[in-house]
Amino acid sequence: MDNKSSLVQWGSRWAFVLAASGSAIGLGNIWKFPYIMGKNGGAAFVLIYLLCMVIISMPIMMSEIILGRMGKRSPINTMRNIVHAENASGFWKIIGWMGLLTGVLILSYYSVIAGWTIFYSMQTISGGLSGLTPGEVGDNFANFISNPTYTLICHSLFMLATILIIARGVNRGIELAVRILMPILFITLLILMCYSIATADFSSAWRFMFAFDLSKVTGAVIVDAIGHAFFTLSLGMGAILMYGAYLPKHVSVVKTSAMVITADTLIALIAGLTIFPIVFAYGLEPGAGPGLIFVTLPIAFAQMTGGSVFGGIFFVLLLFAAWTSALSLLEPAVAWLTESKNMTRKKAAWITGLFIWLVGLLTVMSFSSWAFEFNFLGVKKTNGLFDMFDILTSNITLPLGGILMALFVGWVVSEASTKDQLALESRVYKLWQFAVRFISPIAIAIVLYFLVFGSL
Ligand code: PHE
Repeated sequence: MDNKSSLVQWGSRWAFVLAASGSAIGLGNIWKFPYIMGKNGGAAFVLIYLLCMVIISMPIMMSEIILGRMGKRSPINTMRNIVHAENASGFWKIIGWMGLLTGVLILSYYSVIAGWTIFYSMQTISGGLSGLTPGEVGDNFANFISNPTYTLICHSLFMLATILIIARGVNRGIELAVRILMPILFITLLILMCYSIATADFSSAWRFMFAFDLSKVTGAVIVDAIGHAFFTLSLGMGAILMYGAYLPKHVSVVKTSAMVITADTLIALIAGLTIFPIVFAYGLEPGAGPGLIFVTLPIAFAQMTGGSVFGGIFFVLLLFAAWTSALSLLEPAVAWLTESKNMTRKKAAWITGLFIWLVGLLTVMSFSSWAFEFNFLGVKKTNGLFDMFDILTSNITLPLGGILMALFVGWVVSEASTKDQLALESRVYKLWQFAVRFISPIAIAIVLYFLVFGSL
């Protein structure tokens, strides 16, 4: 292992918990989880989901953190260091490279979608939605995303905000940002939830989200639960590994992982209890994805008293959630450039950021004149390259990265190293080892199969 160990460390373990939660809590928690939960068995789904979190995702999250802590570098150099120290095959370095490319690609489109929340927060706060009919709200969205001028400005602003934080470094940038943004996100979302519960249709939302129905939990639902439990924790591309590289040795990996998972799940539940009472109160259909956030909810905001304030705050929170996720997508590539190419952090942040911004133009145009259709697993995709990037990363390279990390930590890294990192009681260590050797890679391989081939 090289002896220039990284000098950068989080100010405290809370900084790590906030930063990793910031990475985990993103668009996925707000627009996907509450819906899949309601649609697929409510409380029964939550139980299965939590089980997947604990036996499949948590062991991988722990593995990513200890990899980072062992290599103390960006994912690429961490993997190089560990492969060298453990005398392992050079093949495993692919984990670092694939992670870097995945992060770059995800951020290129994540930034475009996150940029939409900038436009929507301004439009909603300025009263631009008030009084619009449902049809007009739908047209408003279609016109906005197909206008590359607006979406380009928003994408640029979002990338700029991300670059500026990363350029300031780990402590004065990421740590400071998450110490401010995460408490605001948590507390304000709680306030919105209370308002929503008190004024809108809480009982329908509760029934939709929590009614226990085991019969809806089919094989496909379980595959969906595992896939989401993985994506929502930002696993498989090195973001958590990178944050683990800045974690001091004495901090407990189990406890911090458990905290991140708890925060991620809580925010997703709170988001559902904020969104669905409103959706039901206005007689709208629950849904997921951009349709829920940029059409269904704005229809409600347009009619609600105080809708422009409530809606405006909601979009700002969504922006914060996406922003703290974007930091973890940019950091690995920037850290790699500063380590390997002897660049200052500032320069590395700008070069990487500008490159990702450029790639993002492909997504901007995918909603406009470069849109094309294709079929994937029988589902019609209408936004060409954007859909392809999304499929390539969420369906292929993220799960593949997760499987490789689990196998590497479980089978290749020596027991002495992992025992030393985890400092667990031997029975608990054995359980973790069994999970990373067998349960997590097999479960994620099954999910990967379905994500690529659809059905057996
Ligand atoms: N976890 C984020 C979300 O739920 C997405 C993400 C994936 C962020 C991978 C970083 C890395 O939206």
